[in-house]
Amino acid sequence: MSDSSPAPSWEQITDSLHHCTRCSLYKNATQVVCGEGSHHSPVIFVGEQPGDQEDLAGRPFVGPAGKVFDEVMASIGWPREEIYLTNAVKHFKFYLQGQRRIHQTPAPEEVECCRIWLRHEWRLLKPRLTVALGATAVLALTGKKQTLGALRGRIHKLKETAPFVATYHPSYILRQPNEEGRQKAYQAMQQDLTMAREFLKAAS
Ligand code: URA
Repeated sequence: MSDSSPAPSWEQITDSLHHCTRCSLYKNATQVVCGEGSHHSPVIFVGEQPGDQEDLAGRPFVGPAGKVFDEVMASIGWPREEIYLTNAVKHFKFYLQGQRRIHQTPAPEEVECCRIWLRHEWRLLKPRLTVALGATAVLALTGKKQTLGALRGRIHKLKETAPFVATYHPSYILRQPNEEGRQKAYQAMQQDLTMAREFLKAAS
């Protein structure tokens, strides 16, 4: 993630993102969804990509997955206003089923194309920790496809950026077929985020 050229400002990133045509996803999306939150946050949370509601609202994590995310954060007493929250891919990828727009996982090439924005966000924020929400965020961070089960529950060191914690994407909780599965995934996410917060407290 290192880069010797000067980092653009937050305003320049937002402006350039609104004109981004680096991959084809901009063509069908309503708008780009930039990261948001505290520019003084010691932590950057990285999701996958905007969903249907985020695409319409132009803000990250405002749909069903965002509600779960807010609930988990509230349950451990970590206000969303204290963090910076963004996505690995900034445009909504979907296919149409009748009138419904159905989420599609971004391809590795799309993640790679969008990585430049994440790199700018990192360089400006200089976070002490990154929290990857789900496998696409892990791919954006490490360049490797990895399963969450094997990664979560630990702090990982990266050569070029601050350490990261990987946890389930909130939509994974929503996709569980029963209440037991939901509880298990919810508690795992609570544990991972508590560990992330403790790490930041110890490092401050
Ligand atoms: N899922 C994500 O990864 N990001 C969002 O902004 C919404 C849902």
